[in-house]
Amino acid sequence: MSNMTKAMNLAASGFTRRKFLKGLAVGAGAASLGSYEAVAQMVAGPRARPVRGWGVPEGFIRLSSNENPIGPSPRAVEAIMQYVYKFNRYYRGRGLYGQIAERHGLPVVIPSNNSSEERSEPWVTLGCGSSEVLFAIASAYLRDGGQMIEAAPGYGGVIRTARKYGARARLVRTTPDFHQDLDAMKAAVNEDTRVVIITSPGNPTGIIAPFDDLKKFVSDIPSDVMVFVDEAYIEFARNPEDRVGAAPLILDHENVIVTRTFSKIMGMAGLRIGYGLARPHVIEKLEDNKGGRVSSLSVVAAEACIEDNDYQDRAREAAWAGHDYFMSQFDEMGLEYVPSQSSFMLVNVRKDADEITQKLFEEYNVMVGNGKRRWRMNNWLRVTSGLQEENEAFIAALKKVLVSS
Ligand SMILES: Cc1ncc(COP(=O)(O)O)c(C=O)c1O
Repeated sequence: MSNMTKAMNLAASGFTRRKFLKGLAVGAGAASLGSYEAVAQMVAGPRARPVRGWGVPEGFIRLSSNENPIGPSPRAVEAIMQYVYKFNRYYRGRGLYGQIAERHGLPVVIPSNNSSEERSEPWVTLGCGSSEVLFAIASAYLRDGGQMIEAAPGYGGVIRTARKYGARARLVRTTPDFHQDLDAMKAAVNEDTRVVIITSPGNPTGIIAPFDDLKKFVSDIPSDVMVFVDEAYIEFARNPEDRVGAAPLILDHENVIVTRTFSKIMGMAGLRIGYGLARPHVIEKLEDNKGGRVSSLSVVAAEACIEDNDYQDRAREAAWAGHDYFMSQFDEMGLEYVPSQSSFMLVNVRKDADEITQKLFEEYNVMVGNGKRRWRMNNWLRVTSGLQEENEAFIAALKKVLVSS
């Protein structure tokens, strides 16, 4: 059974700890308990307490998808509640474009609403998650083939689409300490190159590409090569200056595209909304390569959440607290890890990642990213910061699994 299927079955079955406990012999030790109780007991001591994360069945720990663990922004929820009786209508509000442009210091241009209005030239495009903008980049610039360049290990979102068009990926290894090697990426550019993809912070590395390095990179490469900077996680950076990202480069460079998402720091992964930033003629090209419009409920939630700085601070602090805890535990366990500016972290468990991820899931209901399967990083896991209780359950389960493997 796949991980997702198991999770969905669990949710659908309405399995609760109380029901499960009915079948248990009183006084049974952790070894004879089911996995919910085993994880709970390791975390909470002799009195079993189910680990409870937002939006997942209790006893279930999902630290594999880089989701925001603190639940949605109350302001976003309220905005949806207020709009919910109106979704029979197409959404006409276009304020979000202005909020986004302002946030990034770009000209505030609201897209025209219909063909009778004079056409405007916005610097922002919305997508069904930033994934739709990544798809549009592949479709707009790589549909006729050509070369794209990305770091390895890397996210690979554009590559997955563009390969289907026959475009070729040139993967450039990160440095040994997992920084994107911008010099090597620049050296890989040739007359066939259409797009260079830089993810900052990297996924799975969590390492930022510094602004000055990006600026130099963009100035050095041919202006007909698009530089796409994916900033899905940049809001988790500890240094506020790093959170500005590459958007200012758009003012001076026609070949820069930046994407951000509401899925991570804004806690709206399931609502599917993200955006791209670029010069208006690039935005127009991306628009031509997208599907329909994002849903009204996603837009009203995004309008509310983008202003909810308290919520974003809480999400950031939860991620940092998780990282601090993980790092102290990994240090104690003698495990190598990559200090991260993102909401997840790579850790080298020095054992086969297939076996460890499988045991974590099957024995303890803990889901983490498998570096071997996705990036051929045979001994590495990518773990998202969850709530403290979830993080503790993961560490407790990892300790058990490493001893038994
Ligand atoms: C680096 C990166 N870019 C883009 C995305 C796409 O996210 P979404 O479509 O939810 O905005 C993800 C999702 O995990 C990601 O990790």
